[in-house]
Amino acid sequence: MNKGVLESTAELLVSPGKGILATDATEGTMDKRMQAVEVAPSPELRRKFRELLLTTKDASEFISGVILNDEIIRQKTSGGIDFAKLVENQGMIPGIKVDKKANDMANFPGEKIAEGLDGLRDRFIEYKNMGARFAKWRAVITIGEGIPTDVCIESNAESLARYAALAQEADIVPIVEPEVLMEGNHGIGRCEEVTKKVLKSVFKKLTDHRIVLAGMLLKPNVVHPGKDSQEKADNEVVAEKTLKVLHETVPEEVPGILFLSGGDSAPEMTQHLDLMNEKGSHPWELAFSFERALEGPSLEIWKGNDANWEAAQKEFYKRARLNSLARTGAYTKEMEAENG
Ligand code: 13P
Repeated sequence: MNKGVLESTAELLVSPGKGILATDATEGTMDKRMQAVEVAPSPELRRKFRELLLTTKDASEFISGVILNDEIIRQKTSGGIDFAKLVENQGMIPGIKVDKKANDMANFPGEKIAEGLDGLRDRFIEYKNMGARFAKWRAVITIGEGIPTDVCIESNAESLARYAALAQEADIVPIVEPEVLMEGNHGIGRCEEVTKKVLKSVFKKLTDHRIVLAGMLLKPNVVHPGKDSQEKADNEVVAEKTLKVLHETVPEEVPGILFLSGGDSAPEMTQHLDLMNEKGSHPWELAFSFERALEGPSLEIWKGNDANWEAAQKEFYKRARLNSLARTGAYTKEMEAENG
């Protein structure tokens, strides 16, 4: 393991003003996203959408790295370039999602465990040869009646730590993503309590597995009420509670925290990030690693129609730019009305 390589890649990924595009939704999830905007999904349209995003001119002003998945990293652009190579040519760092489907956890109804550890050492070698310099593993934690259980939290934390160890062995920076899902009718207090417990468990396991904290990145959820909750929390409260939990659980050696968007709208997520960066200084960079909140608006404009290609790229550039401004608390809601 080369600690210098890990630390410098991790730092580059959270460079000032930059964040990550996670265009790594699985085939099934991407198809659902397309159907939601009335596009009939196909492998070719999935490929094309990624080409649209990744050929957006000057996206690298705001995007440091791009998370691909096993399908895309094996595909080529219409001009015959490998996608990982395209990412590099555009001035960004290629990354790869390595967790496989989150499966139902035996004996724990309603809970999931991410799989994909078997053979991961060899997969890292293959992905590294394809150009990947960082990786992502997502574990999902559901809040509900009697869940999450300690067994589910600890099993997922253990998998995240084992994945991170294998990534670092290959000089690949692990993004550790324990996502406490937004689904449910719980209040913000319950989300705060669960997120804190999960992050505590994750950092305990990462430390037990001797992970180089300066050579990894964390990708958490923001703390807010469940989607179906009657409780409404204003964005100031969301920012305060999220920061409180992070300060209580994330060691200072971790260079950066990149939030997932989790289903919040694109402007809402940009505002969350902005408020958190506005509120004092933090030992870590606070950045973004969004899928939906970065590429969603662009997909809605494109709709699989080449006539909308440029407008969709313009929207992607705009979202990247606004999230970049949110990295320093310089975003305002009024900017949403700007054109491009
Ligand atoms: P969202 O930003 O849509 O939550 O996706 C981020 C991600 O990478 C989920 O694994």
